[in-house]
Amino acid sequence: MPDTITIIDNRTGKSAEIPIINGGVSSQEWSKLLPGIWFLDPAFTVTAACESSITYLDGDKGILLYRGYPIEQLAEQSTYLEVSYLLLHGELPTKEQFEKWEYEITHHTFIHENMRKRFLEGFHYDAHPMGMLVSAVAALSTFYLEAKDIFNPESRNKQITRLIAKMPTLAAAAHRFSVGMPFVYPDNSLKFTENFLSMMYKTAEPRYEAHPTLARALDVLFILHADHEQNCSTTAMRVVGSSHADPYSACAAACAALYGPRHGGANEAVIRMLTEIGSYENADDYIKRVKEGKVRLQGFGHRVYKNYDPRAKIIKRIADEVFEVTGKNPLIDIALKLEEVALSDEYFIERKLYPNVDFYSGIIYQAMGFPLEMFPVLFAIPRTSGWLAHWVEMLDQNSKIARPRQVYVGHEHRDYVKIDDRVS
Ligand code: CMC
Repeated sequence: MPDTITIIDNRTGKSAEIPIINGGVSSQEWSKLLPGIWFLDPAFTVTAACESSITYLDGDKGILLYRGYPIEQLAEQSTYLEVSYLLLHGELPTKEQFEKWEYEITHHTFIHENMRKRFLEGFHYDAHPMGMLVSAVAALSTFYLEAKDIFNPESRNKQITRLIAKMPTLAAAAHRFSVGMPFVYPDNSLKFTENFLSMMYKTAEPRYEAHPTLARALDVLFILHADHEQNCSTTAMRVVGSSHADPYSACAAACAALYGPRHGGANEAVIRMLTEIGSYENADDYIKRVKEGKVRLQGFGHRVYKNYDPRAKIIKRIADEVFEVTGKNPLIDIALKLEEVALSDEYFIERKLYPNVDFYSGIIYQAMGFPLEMFPVLFAIPRTSGWLAHWVEMLDQNSKIARPRQVYVGHEHRDYVKIDDRVS
């Protein structure tokens, strides 16, 4: 990596030396030396929008670290709540810190009765649960007016606790409403993930006991989805947060970004694709259509990973444990066959296309009884910790409001024409 790059103006012969810092060019140095010259990078493919110390991702080697800890170790030994503390505070909690954190989260799981009765029950009977969640998160800002006080550490921590704690409650409430089932109140004697499963599935029994294997599998999936550096929804969180909006409004924007099929909806697309393929015997034909450019292999490829997504490896292992309890989801055979065919095919090898996090996650969610509409909602629950960690980091960096430049390609100046004088 060179220390500088030299830009030469051929017309004047003048040159400017731009320093390279941390593998890139600082926009401040650039605009000092070359004022008026912009980068055009609409999808941020070569633009780092911030400095961050939360998550490290090496897409070529397939490495993912949260605050320096490998995702494999966290998935094996940690819990989602511990990981959320790590993301937000930068260090693993001591036993005492963890007990306090768990207590705080557990005791903020209830939502205001008006949120349930007046707001959530006001939706149309067939409302999509993710649409309900996006709106409900935004609506929380109207219940906690002090949330606007974003530089007050006490208020900031309170809203962080509330958001992480209430996401499962809102998520389950959205599901119950969309299937016509009554709301289940949180049970504060249960752990985070068990409590979510209870709010999702409890029917007439006095206490819902989640199967420990399924609760652990879901907790690991929550760990794997808790953060992924500057993805689309995290960028939305940081951009909206940079205007100093309250965290509920910023989080609702992040949720909205996650709703899109290119982001939080990809595992649903995988299930639809596998269902359409129907049998592993049809895998070769499907791969042929992918190579002809007629369809995409859903759950394959990634903007950053040019190697096996480390999260996909872990999820593939969990699938077997889940199927021991739920029985095998027949779609897994088709997925395994597609992977086998794709990974030995020149088209995929050349383009470095590997399974990503979404290739196997939907198969597990489906086996656990979650409807397809809940997939992005399941993603939003843990990603809230990541969004909030980035929001805090961004505020502490005292960053400016996000405001990109544009390259104007429209009309030059022209004069207004009265309506009667216009020609079509
Ligand atoms: N199936 C077939 N070909 C593909 C695929 C795929 N899934 N993904 C990329 N390619 C090909 C693409 O056609 C292109 O080929 P060529 O150079 O001949 O034109 C080449 O690979 C590069 O693709 P790209 O679209 O320029 O890559 P990108 O970085 O813009 O897109 C992606 C990344 C994830 C949107 C894309 O790989 C994709 O559409 N994958 C399927 C959807 C999916 O699984 N999305 C979930 C991503 S992980 C979510 C998360 O981490 O939050």
